[in-house]
Amino acid sequence: MSKLTRRKFVKTTFAAGLAASILPTDRAIGANSDIRVAVVGFNSRGKGLISGFSALPGVRVAALCDADSAILNRVAGEFDKKTRTKTQRYTDVRKLLSNKDIDAVAFATPVHWNGYGTLLALDAGKDVYVEKPVCHTLQEGQLMLAAARKKKLIVQAGTQNRSDIGMIAAIPDIRAGKLGKIEFIHSYWNKPRGSIGKVSGPQTPPSTVNYDVYLGPAPKKPLMRKRFHYDWHWQWDFGAGEVCNLGNHQIDLARWTAGIDRLPDQVFMFGGRAYDDDGRTPNTVLTAFLYNDNIPIFWESRNLPAVPGKKGSDAVKGKTAAIYVKCEGGYFVGGRGGGSTYDTSGKLIKKYPGDGGRSHIANFIEAVRRRKHEGLRADIAVGRLSTAMCHLANISYKLGKVAAPEDNCYTKQIEAARVNPFFAKRWESMKAHLKINKVDTTKTPMLIGAPLQLDAKKEIFTGPDDIARKANALTRKEYRAPFTLPG
Ligand SMILES: NC(=O)c1ccc[n+]([C@@H]2O[C@H](COP(=O)([O-])OP(=O)(O)OC[C@H]3O[C@@H](n4cnc5c(N)ncnc54)[C@H](O)[C@@H]3O)[C@@H](O)[C@H]2O)c1
Repeated sequence: MSKLTRRKFVKTTFAAGLAASILPTDRAIGANSDIRVAVVGFNSRGKGLISGFSALPGVRVAALCDADSAILNRVAGEFDKKTRTKTQRYTDVRKLLSNKDIDAVAFATPVHWNGYGTLLALDAGKDVYVEKPVCHTLQEGQLMLAAARKKKLIVQAGTQNRSDIGMIAAIPDIRAGKLGKIEFIHSYWNKPRGSIGKVSGPQTPPSTVNYDVYLGPAPKKPLMRKRFHYDWHWQWDFGAGEVCNLGNHQIDLARWTAGIDRLPDQVFMFGGRAYDDDGRTPNTVLTAFLYNDNIPIFWESRNLPAVPGKKGSDAVKGKTAAIYVKCEGGYFVGGRGGGSTYDTSGKLIKKYPGDGGRSHIANFIEAVRRRKHEGLRADIAVGRLSTAMCHLANISYKLGKVAAPEDNCYTKQIEAARVNPFFAKRWESMKAHLKINKVDTTKTPMLIGAPLQLDAKKEIFTGPDDIARKANALTRKEYRAPFTLPG
């Protein structure tokens, strides 16, 4: 991406409409030659990527990279033993990317590295499989798409539901109107998660972690979390909360089902973090994505249990994680693993058994061989748009104002949301859920997110100047030197 500056990118792509260049790249991979893959980050998800790639014929996991040498040596050691190979090991992804023997790189890192690492990898001429959420800001996602197209490289987002055979079969039926017109889609994932605790002062990273590389473009601030790995999800500098985590999967499913290929015209997210801990991202939320010319998409998530002290989560239409597609003549409920359609009385019409999107990595490898992004089930154009929607919700939340739940009905946003009776019901349900869980909103306040308006084509916020200015500032971030954006 060396010749692509951010300013040029915005001028030449979004303003003009993203006319993708689709010429095959010069770097043709012979049909018979192995594709050499490197996996980056494998404390948890990355392990699945290592086994997924290594199970494919004609694919060789040739290098492994983790900023934590303990994880690197443990996982690489097990892999080498099992496969009787000697993978190259790295703790610094920049060194890995200078290895000319690597064709493709898979990232399963914290969010502040997923998109940034992808940009570095594209700059180094590699194809990329990048876990969701694919980017940390809207700008990062836009740059990823532009760089992939400019360099004619293949980038697949790790939203494997796009390869679920149940969803692939159900969506054309829903879109063909077999259940009548779609009225709205409610996407949700309720999953209990405990508090991450609250440390009394700055922590020292594990001695096995190359912390400068781990931080990468993130600001160097005191480390304030007890558990080093995974809990970054709930801190803004590294993660982007549940909406970009579980929500990324569900919002993507909703957008795919509706066939909507653009950002919404309006967005707002209500909610808060119902724990007083080191996490900063909300863990109980209700979001609306509104389109002037299309159906609304809602997102909802609860990290508190249905009943305090017990394991289960609240369910909607019998499921704790799904998309509920409400149509005039019935509905669909499902997601990863497939789903079913029902008539208006709730009688089963048809089952669409799924497989969890098992062929998603193979789909990426096929595209790498073909040197064409068409046919990718979660091309970066798809992945970055769904992740961008999640970020819009977070931006609304970040610009929100504190309100006790009982006050909320007086705000403009709630009034606007009440126009949709289903959304209004979910709001009442969320308030009841917080009450059951005895959430003290004076200690852990809920926020009424800013009602944001967008020029969806330009992907910028419009509307009241002060809100639009603040919101637009949150579509990008600073990169800590020397981890600056390429180009
Ligand atoms: N598609 C799915 O179903 C799915 C499931 C789980 C997680 N994920 C995604 O996978 C990603 C990773 O999540 P996780 O739960 O495995 O996180 P994790 O914290 O458990 O693991 C992240 C790993 O990345 C390493 N790392 C961090 N920065 C690095 C760098 N610069 N270079 C090399 N290694 C680095 C860490 O040391 C750690 O081992 C996230 O984006 C998450 O949303 C996707």
